[in-house]
Amino acid sequence: MCGIVGYVGTRQVTPILIDALKRLEYRGYDSAGLAILTDKVISVCKTEGKIADLETKLPDMKGTCGIGHTRWATQGAPTTVNAHPHVSGNIAVVHNGIIENYQELYDWLKAEGYEFVSETDTEVLAHLAHKYYKGDLVRAVIEGLKKVKGSYAAAYLCSDSKTVVAARKESPLVAGAGKGENFIASDVTALLKNTRDVVYMQDFEIVQLTGEGMQFFDFDGNPVKKKTETIEWNIEAAEKSGYPHFMLKEIHEQVTSIHDTLLGRISELSGEVILGEVTLSIDEIKDLERIVIIACGTSYNAGLLGRYLFESLAGIHTDVEISSEFRYANPVLSGSTLVIAISQSGETADTIAATREAKTYGCHTLAITNVVGTTLSREVENIVYTRAGPEIGVAATKTFTSQLIALYLLSIYFARKRKKMDVDRSKRLLVSMKQLPGMIQQILNNKEFIQKQAKRFSNARDYFFLGRSLNFPIALEGALKLKEISYIHAEGYAAGELKHGPLALISKETPVVALATRSSTYDKMVNNIKEVKARSAQVIAIACADDNEIDKYVDVVIKVPIADELLYPVLTSVVVQLLAYSSADALGCPIDKPRNLAKSVTVE
Ligand code: G6P
Repeated sequence: MCGIVGYVGTRQVTPILIDALKRLEYRGYDSAGLAILTDKVISVCKTEGKIADLETKLPDMKGTCGIGHTRWATQGAPTTVNAHPHVSGNIAVVHNGIIENYQELYDWLKAEGYEFVSETDTEVLAHLAHKYYKGDLVRAVIEGLKKVKGSYAAAYLCSDSKTVVAARKESPLVAGAGKGENFIASDVTALLKNTRDVVYMQDFEIVQLTGEGMQFFDFDGNPVKKKTETIEWNIEAAEKSGYPHFMLKEIHEQVTSIHDTLLGRISELSGEVILGEVTLSIDEIKDLERIVIIACGTSYNAGLLGRYLFESLAGIHTDVEISSEFRYANPVLSGSTLVIAISQSGETADTIAATREAKTYGCHTLAITNVVGTTLSREVENIVYTRAGPEIGVAATKTFTSQLIALYLLSIYFARKRKKMDVDRSKRLLVSMKQLPGMIQQILNNKEFIQKQAKRFSNARDYFFLGRSLNFPIALEGALKLKEISYIHAEGYAAGELKHGPLALISKETPVVALATRSSTYDKMVNNIKEVKARSAQVIAIACADDNEIDKYVDVVIKVPIADELLYPVLTSVVVQLLAYSSADALGCPIDKPRNLAKSVTVE
């Protein structure tokens, strides 16, 4: 997730772009830049760091037309050279998204004589537009983007004319209409100070902004009629896209974040997973005797699912350790061990220290992380970026499900290389994974029902979350989410373990969330539900859409769409997130900033 802006009008453009970028900083904040048109010359200023750092470096850039960018790196470290805009000849571009066929385009453009200066995928967009530019920027952008696979909201500036051209596919883009001036931005937050009249762009649409107006086209160059809408939100609500809290917005964003985690990494045709930043050789993967996953908090819960996947799919013995325990545990590790550090922020002190400890044993190392260029990413040999975009709510939601997706991808990748999974099984699984965003949308469509159930039980003092096998980590995660944002005491338990103690705590005052999607342990789970029901607990089951039996045993059923059995943890995660969110909301808790907690814990 990055933020892009563009302006054409009569006012000085630099302060307008800087102000708009500051409002988009929540979308990314590792580097930033501007390109301004002055008398048929484009000047660029960019830097690593935040918009405030860019401001201190800006020369006196005069002009009334320009584009700007705030970056959240997905390909290439957050350095000045990788910051946007990227320039090719007389054309500059800013981009939010991921170019899936980057390597293919890079090789082709290199052969055509183009020089690349950055490590970003965006640079191909600049060269493509330059290659096809013959005096008509709209045409050049269309021709270039027709070659591109992936997602983009991109804005282009050309030194020949006072215009900004922008196009969209699968990344948000909105145009703003002013008087004698027009705007483009990743979202309305960046526009509201200047105009409330906006046009939401759809995939494969392109807009040309001039001071006089905005013209919209499809990718065949045909004019498209668009409706202007008037925004009623204030700036604060707009930052959250109208959601009352970032956490709820981020729960909703899982429809796109999971899509982004998968983008360009699966081939349904060959059944293969493509992980460019994993450099382990086939022999090294075949020789792996053990995986040790190290992580804290929510990332640790993701790791527990990872254990199941690496063992059952790839046949690799796997242990999961809490980073702060692992680092002092005198672990037994060898050169045939792969240590996987999972960390959303890449800056958690205990996980970094545990990774350093592991390296002293000569193990292979790999990070699953959301932030490019962090301390953790510099410590490891292999990386899988989760590409979930910045997460503002302290309680992890979209970054958790993207970690799960990264673990599915990695375990299939290893399973195929170790010949533990046949091509048909991997194809089926990959096809199902692609359907997850749509399934999550279906769960979100049922949000009001879930909210109602959470409200009904929000006065409970204690909650239990029960799961078995693949759903056990999600039971832990559901309890963690509820504790951290609603302050209701909650325990996540392996359902079969309940009778060894905690069953004593169950009474009619105790809501029990039972994760009961279809699996080989489904019948056992139903037995566990009967056990708690016999102690008068209130049971909320999360079950498959076609499960009509379970209604008989429980008080409430929340249904999830039918998916490949292995993938239910992703769907049950979204339900437990919504339950936790709605409970905290009913209790009036400060959801995005729960007491005593921090987004990233950089001290021991
Ligand atoms: C903090 C956050 C949690 C997170 C944990 C690990 O406690 O509040 O949401 O799961 O740190 O963070 P990491 O960035 O390493 O995943």
